[in-house]
Parts: sequence; structure tokens; C-alpha cells
Amino acid sequence: MNFKEELKRRTEEAEHVIREYLPEESGFAKTMAEAMNYSMMAGGKRLRPILIRETYELFGGKDKLCEPFMAAMEMIHTHSLIHDDLPALDNDDYRRGRLTTHKVYGEAMGVLSGVALLNRAYEVMLSAFDLTEDKDRVIAAMRIIADKTGINGMLGGQSVDVENDGKPLEHKMLDYIYKNKTSALIEASMMTGAVLAGASEKELEIVEQAAENIGLAFQIQDDILDVTSTQEELGKPIHSDEKNNKVTYVSLVGAPAAASRVKELSDHAVELLDDLDRKNGFLDLLVESLVSRRK
Ligand code: IPE
Ligand code: IPE
Ligand code: MG
Ligand code: MG
Ligand code: MG
Repeated sequence: MNFKEELKRRTEEAEHVIREYLPEESGFAKTMAEAMNYSMMAGGKRLRPILIRETYELFGGKDKLCEPFMAAMEMIHTHSLIHDDLPALDNDDYRRGRLTTHKVYGEAMGVLSGVALLNRAYEVMLSAFDLTEDKDRVIAAMRIIADKTGINGMLGGQSVDVENDGKPLEHKMLDYIYKNKTSALIEASMMTGAVLAGASEKELEIVEQAAENIGLAFQIQDDILDVTSTQEELGKPIHSDEKNNKVTYVSLVGAPAAASRVKELSDHAVELLDDLDRKNGFLDLLVESLVSRRK
């Protein structure tokens, strides 16, 4: 398998699915629709939608049922980025290679278009009821996503993250922040693919654990890139964490030890996936590739 080509194909395919569910830019709320689409169409790796499809296929899913969830998850993730960049949070001016939403449309539209994307995600997920007779699977997926996005997931993590800017942090709290601000949506993505395809409780638990490890590795790598990459390569400003006086894995243990931790976590994720009696070779390669990602 040519991994790079396969990843490109899947990214384009995710792009296509996402586009189908975006709001129309018309009517009195046109400016907000434009702001929503501006950030959604700015590129991005589309990792979470790809993880949904790959996990769906890992458990034998074949049809389009996962597609509204792919679009919805990218909307929730993009909402988290628009808000993460606001002056009240990380105050960053670039994202996905362009000026951030609030820089182009103003802070009010940044706040509103972010929340509107979060809401649209639920509008889109509800449309999945028209695609299947198995309503319970749709409900189970929506329950996972709602839970992993809110106070017990991404938003909980983001709140503890910003609340602690400039304060010393212990490992335990840093782990809480990473598990929630970043792992939660990766867990939600893979678990969604799994439940939609009918995975068992036991399988779902393994998927959740693997995704937790992938998410932790992903966030530590993000912190490493914040000090080792360039804005051109990353599409967002570097040294954002230092600017906000954030304790990160890198400031706590140093970049080399952080890189070893990324490798350990990602190896552990692949081992967990190996415990399933099913295999998706592309998914394993994707997880492994995140260790050396440069953006
Ligand atoms: C950025 O996520 C936020 C983190 C959780 C580190 P991504 O690195 O997946 O951002 P995009 O979607 O590719 O822009
Ligand atoms: C953000 O972590 C995670 C979420 C947006 C939920 P960061 O603040 O490190 O993400 P980037 O570096 O701005 O993408
Ligand atoms: Mg942040
Ligand atoms: Mg940030
Ligand atoms: Mg970061």
C-alpha cells in the first residue's frame, strides 16, 4: 500500500462528505454561514472524519451511515478551534494557513459561528435517522459524541486548560487536560465508527482505550510542533503555548522525553488495536504516522 496516496484519497473523500453538509450562504444570516464555511473549508487534516470511516470499516460497516457523523465531528472540532483561537482563550491570528475566523469576521461572528457549527453538528447527526432502520445505533453514536464533547470531555479539558494559563501544573492535571481537550474527540470519532457498525461492548472499550492513547500522543506532538515547527509548515502560529505561559508536556519533561512518550503511546494504541480480531492495515499505518507528523 502506498500510504501517502491512500491518505490523500481518504482526505479528499472526507472533504467531499463535509462539503455536502455545510450551510448555504444565503438569507439574512449569510455572514454567519460564510464565517462557518470559511473555517470549515480552510483545509485541516480531517483526521477525525477519517478515523470515523476507518473504524466503521474495521467493524464491517460499508454504507453511508457514517457520513453525517464524519461531517458533524469535523464541525465540532472546527468549533473548538475557532473558539480556542479567540482573544479570550489562546488569542491566535492564524489557523489552517489563513487568518483566524475572528480576525476576518470579528469576535462576535467568531463566537456565533463557532456555536452555530456545534449546533449544526446535531442537525446533521439527526439526519442519520433517515439512513437506517437501526435507530439504536444512531442514538448510541450521538450519545457518545454529546458526552465526549461537553463538560466530561473536550469542553471540560479546554476550561481547565485556560483556567491554568500561567500556573504551575502537576502531571495529573496535565493528563486530565490532554485526555479531555484532545483525546475525547478522537475517542468519540473511533467509538462512533465502531457503534455504527455494530461493535460489541468489549470491542468498544478497546477502541476507546486505543483512541485515548492516540489522542494523548497527538496532543504531545502538537506541543512539540509548537516549539519545533514553523508557521508556514503548521498553518498556525508557533510558540502559542509559551505566549500563554502554558505548562505543556514539553515544558515539563523536555522535547526529547516528550517525543519518546509520543512513540510509546502510539505503539500502545497499535497493540490495543491488534487485540481485536479484526484488522485495518491503513488504520494502523495512520496511527503510526502521527508520531512523525510535521503538521
Ligand atoms: C488541532 O487539531 C487541535 C489539537 C487537538 C491539537 P488538528 O491538528 O487535528 O487540526 P486540523 O484539523 O488539522 O486543523
Ligand atoms: C487545543 O489545544 C485543543 C482544542 C482546540 C480542543 P491547543 O490550543 O494546543 O491547539 P492548537 O495548538 O491551538 O491547535
Ligand atoms: Mg488551547
Ligand atoms: Mg490553541
Ligand atoms: Mg497547540
